[in-house]
Amino acid sequence: MDKIAVLREKTLQAMKGGGDKRIEAQHKKGKLSARERLQLLLDEGSFEEIGMLVTHRCRDFGMENEVYPGDGVVTGYGTVNGRLIYVYSQDFTVFGGSLSETHAEKIVKIMDLAMQNGAPVIGLNDSGGARIQEGVVSLGGYADIFYRNVQASGVVPQISAILGPCAGGAVYSPAITDFILMAEHTSYMFVTGPNVVKTVTHETVTSEELGGAQTHASKSGVTHFACANEVEAINKIKQLLSYMPQNCEEDAPVYAYEAGDEKRPALDSIIPANPNQPYDIKDVIAELVDSDSFLEVHKDFAENIVVGFARLGGRSVGIVANQPAYLAGVLDINSSRKGARFTRFCDAFNIPLLVLVDVPGFLPGTDQEWHGIITNGAKLLYALSEATVPKVTVITRKAYGGAYDVMNSKHIGADLNFAWPTAEIAVMGAKGAAEIIFKKEISESADPEAKLKEKENEYLEKFANPYGAAARGYVDEVIMPADTRAKLIRGFKMLENKVAKMPKRKHGNIPL
Ligand code: HXC
Repeated sequence: MDKIAVLREKTLQAMKGGGDKRIEAQHKKGKLSARERLQLLLDEGSFEEIGMLVTHRCRDFGMENEVYPGDGVVTGYGTVNGRLIYVYSQDFTVFGGSLSETHAEKIVKIMDLAMQNGAPVIGLNDSGGARIQEGVVSLGGYADIFYRNVQASGVVPQISAILGPCAGGAVYSPAITDFILMAEHTSYMFVTGPNVVKTVTHETVTSEELGGAQTHASKSGVTHFACANEVEAINKIKQLLSYMPQNCEEDAPVYAYEAGDEKRPALDSIIPANPNQPYDIKDVIAELVDSDSFLEVHKDFAENIVVGFARLGGRSVGIVANQPAYLAGVLDINSSRKGARFTRFCDAFNIPLLVLVDVPGFLPGTDQEWHGIITNGAKLLYALSEATVPKVTVITRKAYGGAYDVMNSKHIGADLNFAWPTAEIAVMGAKGAAEIIFKKEISESADPEAKLKEKENEYLEKFANPYGAAARGYVDEVIMPADTRAKLIRGFKMLENKVAKMPKRKHGNIPL
């Protein structure tokens, strides 16, 4: 064979992966092949492959007879909407996409390039885990990847799509990355699978129940997005990338925006007359941000807080908002963790933060206390305090107790604090407050119930408004809801060149 023909032959072999039959088997399961996924993700013709001819080194268990160029992972770089990304796509048709020494080396190589050149890393995961025939070198390969995930954290965005099995220690690479997406019914993630679970705990559970997309989207919060299928997952990756910069030294892309009438009159009547009646904070968000620009993250997990990306006047913002329509918007362990993690991503990648506040306080109860609401609530407090990006707060209604402090109050470094006239800023709700501070007066009264009501009203009169906070400058301005969008666009523009000086230290010690 001449030399050109040899190259053609090897390239062809690499393109075929484990062969047509195995690709067909993937399709039958509702999965795409590694290369089909890349075609969907990347701009047409932009993919440059690296390491196509890499082969495994294992010579045990008959492995010398089965050699596939590429070794079960396609790696390289390309563009998404014209912006550079590095990508790896595991090929389940080659030894179940299992990770060998050389498979790991290929991933490590593109991660190193991504960090050196400042661009996101996207991992498309579909793998049976460590290549069983290779033993410890495969485990070493995983650790080499984990180490780089950590080095890259906060330097370049890292996104993991789980599009097949992801089990055992393999889950820890996606876990360290910034965002995880899963395809429903064709992917799962767990540290130990149903068989081991059955042996150890005698629980009977399917892979889907234990670690499918819905489970991780709603129960564990491990995945940020549960997508109906792989096409949706890959489109979501592209959408997600549009809000973020290439690396921690750059800003997110700015989209063309023509200023218009920024008044949003619908907001003036969005807060119900009865302060205990819920409303959907997502309706508020939809009015505030550029049309259809809100991308909710972690939609089905800890729904009492809403987080996500949006654009205001064409610029990316990260939104953290209490959700009065779910558990009255109370802060609990999961919502605090969710809000903190999102806040830290935005801060690491120069995405300004908008915090919308309507919070009655922290969730009481033994369950919360025994599972550590103290440490977990502190995560959100810590994350918002340490964030140095522009931070703007709007109190729409309740800002009670410690939750007032936590939710981006002026005291923890917010740059601009707005309140609507409907804001209530107090240590606690009026009834509870009256019961404590007027206990004696109420019990000695001829009509304790009427007395309680009277004192409750007195407390409400004094604190169920934003003016005490505004008088002290804790709230910069009390604004009409309809004017909020205009105020936010101007406010974030004013804060565009914010420089924050931090004390010298190695790193802080967030209460994990
Ligand atoms: C080598 C593997 C493999 C692996 C699958 N294959 N997993 N080869 N190492 N880890 C091969 C199979 O032998 C098979 O080869 C082909 O891939 C497809 O696998 P099937 O079993 O036919 O596919 P399916 O029925 O879809 O089942 C997929 C699966 C199953 C659930 C992932 O293959 C499986 O349980 N694999 C083992 C998973 C595992 O225990 N991995 C190690 C975990 S420990 P042929 O030639 O027949 O097509 C781990 C630790 C990481 O990962 C530690 C990091 C710190």
